[in-house]
Amino acid sequence: MSRRRIFVTTALPYANGPFHIGHIMEYIQADIWVRFQRMRGHEVHFVGADDAHGAPIMLAAEKAGKSPEAFVAGIAAGRKAYLDGFHLRFDNWHSTHSPENTALSQDIYLRLKRAGLVDRRPVEQFYDPVKNMFLADRYIKGECPNCGARDQYGDACENCSAAYAATDLKNPYSTLSGAKPVLKTSEHHFFRLSDPRCKAFLKQWLEAPGRLQPQVVNKAKEWLEGEGDKALGDWDISRDPPYFGIRIPELDDEKYLYVWLDAPIGYLASFKHYCARTGLDFEGFLQAPDTEQVHFIGKDIIYFHTLFWPAMLHFAGRPYKVPDHVYVHGFITVSGDKMSKSRGTGISPLRYLELGMNPEWLRYYIAAKLNAHVEDIDFSPEDFLARVNSDLVGKFVNIASRCVPFITKRYGGKLRGVALKKDTGADVASTVRHAAPEIAAAYDAREFGKAIRRIMELADEVNRFVDAEKPWELARQPGHESRLHTVCSEAIEAFRFLAILLAPVLPRTAESAAQLLGVKPFQWHDLEKFLGEGHAIAEYRHLLTRVEAKQLDQLFDLQSVPQSAAPQRHAEKQQHTAREKAVSDTITIEDFNKLDLRVARIERAELVEGADKLLRLTLDLGGPARTVFAGIKSAYDPAQLEGRLAVVVANLAPRTMKFGVSEGMVLAASGEGPGIFLIAPDAGALPGMRVK
Ligand code: 2FM
Ligand code: ZN
Repeated sequence: MSRRRIFVTTALPYANGPFHIGHIMEYIQADIWVRFQRMRGHEVHFVGADDAHGAPIMLAAEKAGKSPEAFVAGIAAGRKAYLDGFHLRFDNWHSTHSPENTALSQDIYLRLKRAGLVDRRPVEQFYDPVKNMFLADRYIKGECPNCGARDQYGDACENCSAAYAATDLKNPYSTLSGAKPVLKTSEHHFFRLSDPRCKAFLKQWLEAPGRLQPQVVNKAKEWLEGEGDKALGDWDISRDPPYFGIRIPELDDEKYLYVWLDAPIGYLASFKHYCARTGLDFEGFLQAPDTEQVHFIGKDIIYFHTLFWPAMLHFAGRPYKVPDHVYVHGFITVSGDKMSKSRGTGISPLRYLELGMNPEWLRYYIAAKLNAHVEDIDFSPEDFLARVNSDLVGKFVNIASRCVPFITKRYGGKLRGVALKKDTGADVASTVRHAAPEIAAAYDAREFGKAIRRIMELADEVNRFVDAEKPWELARQPGHESRLHTVCSEAIEAFRFLAILLAPVLPRTAESAAQLLGVKPFQWHDLEKFLGEGHAIAEYRHLLTRVEAKQLDQLFDLQSVPQSAAPQRHAEKQQHTAREKAVSDTITIEDFNKLDLRVARIERAELVEGADKLLRLTLDLGGPARTVFAGIKSAYDPAQLEGRLAVVVANLAPRTMKFGVSEGMVLAASGEGPGIFLIAPDAGALPGMRVK
């Protein structure tokens, strides 16, 4: 078997929030595949990065009162806890907001331009005259031109399902400022995907045997071969400022590359950064005829990865190479609930770790459910508990826990050479070993569920052997020493083979098993030989515990958080802390109505000389301006607050403070940890509106 050289990536997550279970599932899938290939002796480079650019991140940063750079850096700082926590062994984690990505993206853009594949044409688009920016459809709402429903987005009506252009909406408003958008023209750059050269290239790329899953080829070809209003259009790859992105080079006016152009280039940027760090030749690797470039992605981003991305790479030319494989997975649902990209699902990966739940349980469960098709998988708590406990603990670990102690207590920890002495007549270790090629093929083809099913059938077989031989009875009957030694040695050999087969999924347990068995970290070729006569093993130590139903209750029950988890808390800390607190005494609706809460626009925000914590805010509540002192200096840069909406207690008695009179109170959330979070009304609210 020749040594494969593979460069592997997972989709780059937007740097606007912590990982959710969907991200972790994808990383687990890729990590298992990578570990398997490495165990086979192949050279694999596995990289990830944050997808840092684009309008949503720019606006989220603004809302958080931070610069986009500081905002994405904060998100990046939270990644390690998850990656380490779930044993996701990326060789490098980088960012699309990096010098490597800027250089590569500008280079690729210029090469496409030189290839005659970039067009420029004017585009008329809605523009927010208050925020001074062009508005993507998702930032425009108005009345449906078809049924008149209010507050519908700029592309389709949620009430009557009519599809339309944002410019068709009646009484449109910007969800960013509430302002009425105006039409404005700007010159945009387009990647000419409709060029016959692109189409011809993509057709042959898509049809290369074994490159893509058949379902993915069909989907991509539908787009590629669409006609009439379904015809493949050119791709708008430029954005006007303000935009958090990469400047379009060699241009007089300030324009940026659309985030989806620079995002996949981030795969190469992370790889390049890693090559510089490790001395690998970036261009040499990409140009070598035998290297493979493999992307793991979710089904929602097939379009970008099977049309734009290969076309960009192909027409940019050497040293860039086109992807060899794009492996697409479905979504993960939790107890049948569809996952939302922004909300995630009922499972918080960080909470899972905080609860002390073993990451390998989740890796195993996900592996058991995955196949090579684009199918959704469901996380069901009952199924999770049953599979982990009965398979991993009840079948796999059980073999070692039943047999190792006899060897250490009675035979000085020395195994008998079972390959040579087959006096039991059974050859259960060989049975396991002989299934290895079939299991390797399943791993290689990402049929992890199939691999796991086969491994568990083998574990059943080993357990049947132990049950039939009853070492605990042999141990009580004099004269059976030799047989007991052979039976336990045979079972331990079989256990070792099972541990090797499971190692891509359970890297930690495999490490502990290797230590227990007195061998080096497992490689796939270790399946070729038995340990042999006299090989010494160590005392049995617990390899893996059971999942308790209580832990799953805690995972889904947001009321309780164990105290022991406190030191590990991270990005979601405030969220959990807030849940722990008992609420205050009940009040009546009349009590509540005494509060006059209003939407206010922060007109000015200033530092207060001599005050450590306060900012002076000048607020517009629809009437005369008010001054409010707010203790939010630690969390907000005053310049970033100006123009934002907030919620104010408008009828709070004025309070004379050291620095002046405060005429109200701005609402903000905080927990026990650091961080203060201003409460902001949803988009579209206007100063003076009552909050109730
Ligand atoms: O859909 C997403 O979450 C994108 N951030 C994926 C980008 S993948 C690659 F192109 F970077
Ligand atoms: Zn409608």
